[in-house]
Amino acid sequence: MSYKQKYLEQALIPGIFKNEFSGSVAWQCPSNIALIKYWGKQPNQIPMNASLSMTLEKAVTKTEIAYNYSESREKINIDYYFHGQRKKVFEKRLLDYFKDLTEYFPFLDKLELFIRSDNSFPHSTGIASSASAFGAIALCLTEIEYHLKGESVGTAEFYNKASFIARLGSGSASRSIFGGLVEWGRHESVKGSTDETAIQVSKIIHPYFKNFQDFILILDKGKKDISSADGHNLMNSNPYASTRFQQAHSNLNELIHAIQRGNMEKFINIVEAEAMNLHAMMMTSSPGYMLMKPGTVEVIEKIKRFRTKSEMPVCYTLDAGANVHFLGPQSCKPVMVDFVENELKSCCFDGDYIQDRMGNGPEKIKDE
Ligand code: PMV
Repeated sequence: MSYKQKYLEQALIPGIFKNEFSGSVAWQCPSNIALIKYWGKQPNQIPMNASLSMTLEKAVTKTEIAYNYSESREKINIDYYFHGQRKKVFEKRLLDYFKDLTEYFPFLDKLELFIRSDNSFPHSTGIASSASAFGAIALCLTEIEYHLKGESVGTAEFYNKASFIARLGSGSASRSIFGGLVEWGRHESVKGSTDETAIQVSKIIHPYFKNFQDFILILDKGKKDISSADGHNLMNSNPYASTRFQQAHSNLNELIHAIQRGNMEKFINIVEAEAMNLHAMMMTSSPGYMLMKPGTVEVIEKIKRFRTKSEMPVCYTLDAGANVHFLGPQSCKPVMVDFVENELKSCCFDGDYIQDRMGNGPEKIKDE
């Protein structure tokens, strides 16, 4: 049975709650950086290819949802604040999202929600803010469902459902529900993988990848020229799309082998090729987009020269934006810190970068 079918059936089971009910839930959910990129989708947020990402530790969204349930309410009411400011535009996106969720969470229409979110990193700069934002909201909503049904949260089943719900908000958010290295999308190399939820692959990784480092070099703080939703849609008419989907499929297979065996050379080749391919897809769409800035190219060149000179197994990747993620094993951390401070910091906007690393996944903040 598909997860969709299972969760639709669950939605028919009545809750044990009273006519009026209120409470508050809060989750911290990390962002993630894709090593194999998801770019292109089918309806219902089904990916055109499987993707694989590393969950981060410090780049997180904290979200608290206070809720009032009333049997007599006919329509959901929400009130969304981001860093203390009401955000009507995101409220609209959330209302559309919640509308899509009512078939899984029929109780949503009876809720009044007060949502407060804070990010630990700049919004809309190519750091996957939608992944952590929708991840945190999905965890909160899934917890509310569990409360209303009198079930305990934190089980494997709970996280699986949260990943499914997060995916419907933002595909990459499905991966943020788990720590370490996470795969999303049906792929023969990952047992149990599905297009509906993400799955953790950390159990099979070589020690090189434990605590893997990610320095996020902020090269631009402006809003992106194109939303990822529009970017995914452009893949429907991109002439290179089908080759790209096949390439992502075989890259994922090769990357999994490299991660299992600790083959850093292969890892570096694939991760950097994926970054270039993602941007090549954006450039060759119609209209085409160039999301790199001059600083992006400068930093990439510096990282490549540094790798040749130092012989350190470090590399870069990009998200759908100008910022560069500088990646490397924990053993390279001291050298990476020096290089960033002495060579890369000066390229960054206001000298800003986030020193992050692989994280353990979301954390529940409070429950009242
Ligand atoms: O989850 P979305 O719809 O924001 O798409 C994310 C796409 C990329 O961040 C560019 C790649 C990825 O796999 O995270």
